[in-house]
Amino acid sequence: MIRKYTFGTPLPTGAAVLSLPAETSPLPWFDVSREGEKLRLTLALHPEERLFGLGESVRGINKRGFLYRSWNSDVFSHTESTESLYGSHNFLVFFSPERLFGIYLDDPGLVTWDLGYSRMDTAVITSENGQLDIYLLEENSLTETARAFRRLTGKSYLPPRWAFGYIQSRWGYASEKEIRTVADGHRKQGIPLDGICMDIDYMEAFRNFTWKKDAFPDLKRFCAEMKEEHIRLIPIIDAGIAAEEGYEPYDSGREADAFCRKADGSEFRAAVWPGFCCFPDFLRKDVRRWFGDLYRPLLEAGVEGFWNDMNEPALFYTEERTAAAFSRAEELRGGHADYEALWSLKDAFNGIANNPEDYRSFWQEPEGRRVRHDRVHNLYGAFMTHASAEGFRRFDPGKRFLLFSRSSFIGAHRSGGIWQGDNFSWWSHLKLALQMLPNLNLCGFLYSGCDLGGFGCNVTEDLLERFLQLGVFTPLMRNHSALHTRDQEVYRFSILDLMRNTIRVRYALLPFLYSEFMKAALTDGMYFRPLAFDYPEDPRAVATEDQLMLGEACMIAPVLEQNAAGRYMYLPEEMLMIRFRSPEDYDLLELPPGDHRISLSLGEFPLFVRKNHAVLLCPGGDSSETLNDHDFTALCLADRPVSYDLYRDDGTDPAPLLSEHLTRVSLAPADRVAKIHVVL
Ligand code: NOJ
Repeated sequence: MIRKYTFGTPLPTGAAVLSLPAETSPLPWFDVSREGEKLRLTLALHPEERLFGLGESVRGINKRGFLYRSWNSDVFSHTESTESLYGSHNFLVFFSPERLFGIYLDDPGLVTWDLGYSRMDTAVITSENGQLDIYLLEENSLTETARAFRRLTGKSYLPPRWAFGYIQSRWGYASEKEIRTVADGHRKQGIPLDGICMDIDYMEAFRNFTWKKDAFPDLKRFCAEMKEEHIRLIPIIDAGIAAEEGYEPYDSGREADAFCRKADGSEFRAAVWPGFCCFPDFLRKDVRRWFGDLYRPLLEAGVEGFWNDMNEPALFYTEERTAAAFSRAEELRGGHADYEALWSLKDAFNGIANNPEDYRSFWQEPEGRRVRHDRVHNLYGAFMTHASAEGFRRFDPGKRFLLFSRSSFIGAHRSGGIWQGDNFSWWSHLKLALQMLPNLNLCGFLYSGCDLGGFGCNVTEDLLERFLQLGVFTPLMRNHSALHTRDQEVYRFSILDLMRNTIRVRYALLPFLYSEFMKAALTDGMYFRPLAFDYPEDPRAVATEDQLMLGEACMIAPVLEQNAAGRYMYLPEEMLMIRFRSPEDYDLLELPPGDHRISLSLGEFPLFVRKNHAVLLCPGGDSSETLNDHDFTALCLADRPVSYDLYRDDGTDPAPLLSEHLTRVSLAPADRVAKIHVVL
C-alpha cells in the first residue's frame, strides 16, 4: 500500500506518476518535528534493522551508519567521507524482523539522512525546504516494496540493445582519425565493441551541439561508416550553454528567454569548459522543448546515443566568487600568513567551484512558480535528461536512443540511465560501484555502470581486468578515463588476452543479460538486488555486502581486492558456479550452501546460478548486432526439467510488450550439471 502525506505546499518534482490523495492522519513510524522551515523525521532503529536505498551514495549496500546529504554535486575525487554524489534518490527501505516499509521524500532541495551516524540507534531525516510530499510504502516483501516504488514513480528507461555492448571512452579523443584508431585497435585485436564516446574535445571550443569541422569534416559520413562496422558514436552534451553572441544555441536561447536569471533579472553566468555559460531553465516545459530540439543536427548526422554531463549543474566559478577569493589574497599579500590565514586563502580558492552562494543566486520556474534554484537544485540534471529524451522522441518516436546522465533525481529513471560518476582507479571504487548498483536499481535506475578501469588516476592492468569482470554484468559496460591519465583502451595492455576474453564473455552472455534486463524493466523489477531481497530470512545473506543477485536466478561475486587469487563468499543455497575464463573455457561446479573460498586467478570470474534455473550462452561476436542469438548453450544445475523464458526483440522498439517477445526454452537435463545445446 502506498500512502501520501503532504507537508505545506510542495514544490513540483515530476517524480511521482501516481496521483494519490493526501492522508489526513499523521505520518506513522516517525516522530515529526519542525525547526524553523525544516521538517525533521526521527525514528528509533531496531538493532538488526537494515536500510536499503538512497541510490547513488557512498559506502555500503546497507546505508546504516553514515550521514548522507541529497545535494547533487560534481565530486571528482569522492571518497568514503563524501556525503553527496551526483544524484539525489530520496527513497529508503527499513527492513528488520519487526517491520518493513519504504519512505520516499519527494523533495527537490537538500535532504539530510543521518542514518545511525549521530546516534547508532536513531535515524534522523531532515528536509531543508520543509514543504514536500512524503510517501510511505508498506508491502509484504522487499521485492514488492521496490515494485510499488516503480508503480509510484514510473517505469524504468529502456536503452537500445546495442547499448549492452562494450563501449570505449576517453576524455581527449579529438578527431575522426583518433576515433578510427580506437575502433581499429579493437577490431584488429578481436575485441568486441559497440560504441565509442566522444568527450568534450569533439566540440568547437567546447560548445554544445557543435563539432570541430576540421577534425570531423563530415560527421554524417563518419557516423555511417562506423555504423557499418557496428560501432555507434556517443557524443557528450554539457548543461551550460556558452554565453557568446553569434553562437546559435545562445542566441536562440536568449530569444526564447530560456536561461536562468538572478534576482536582478540579469542572466546567471558561471564558467564551465567553454568559459562563461548560461544555464537553461530545464524546469520549464518550453525550455525543454527548445533544448531537446538542439540535438537535431547530431541526430540528423546519425547519432543514436548521448551522455549528458556537468548537469548538477557544475559551476567552475562565477565572477563574484573569484572576486571574493582574490580579495582574500590581496588582504594577505606581503604579510605573514599563519596557518589559519593560509587555510582561509586555500578555502577561498577551493570554494569558488560549486559554491552554495551561487546556487542561491539564481531562479527557476517549475510549472510557472518562481523558485530560487537551491530549493529545486536536485532537479536540474533530471530535467535535462527529460529534455533530451523528449527531443529524441520528437525526432524519431519509433526508436529507442541511448542516454545516460551524470546528475539525476527520481523520475529521471524514466528517461535515461546514469553512469556512476568520476571514480578513481582504486580497488575501493570497484567495491563502491558494486555496492551502489542494487540501490540504484531500487530507485529505478536500471541502466547504469561505472567508469571501468576508473576515471581518475592511472589504472593498473589487474585492476582494469577486475573492473571489466564486474562490467561484464553491468548494463552499461563502458571503459572511460580522464585526460592525462594512462591510456586505458584494453588493446594497450600486456594482459590483453585476458581482457579480450572477459569482454567476449559479456557478448556470449549478452542475449541472456539483455533478456534479464528487459524482463526486470518491464515488470518493475530489479536487475541487481541485495541478497536480502531473495533471502530475507537468512541473516548471512541479509548481511552480505559484496555479492549481488542478478536477474531472476543469478548471483555475482567479483574479486574486489588487489592480488587476490580468489575470494571468500557466501552461498545462501546450492548453486552452480560457472567460472569463466572465456566463452569457450569455463568450469562448472556444483556448490553446496554455506561459506566458500573460491579460487579465481586474474583472468577468472564467476557467475552463480540457482538450482533448476538456466543461463544461456551464445557463440558471441564482434558486436551486439553480429551476435548469433539462435544457437545457445544452456548451463544449469538441475534435478528436474528446467525452462527459461528468453526475451528477444529488435532492440529498438520504444514500447515493447513483454508477452510478445518471450520464447520458452525447455530443457531436459540428463545430468545434474548440464550443458545443453539449444537452437531457437
Ligand atoms: C566530467 C565527467 O564526469 C567526465 O566523465 C568527463 O570525461 C569530463 N567531465 C570531461 O567532459
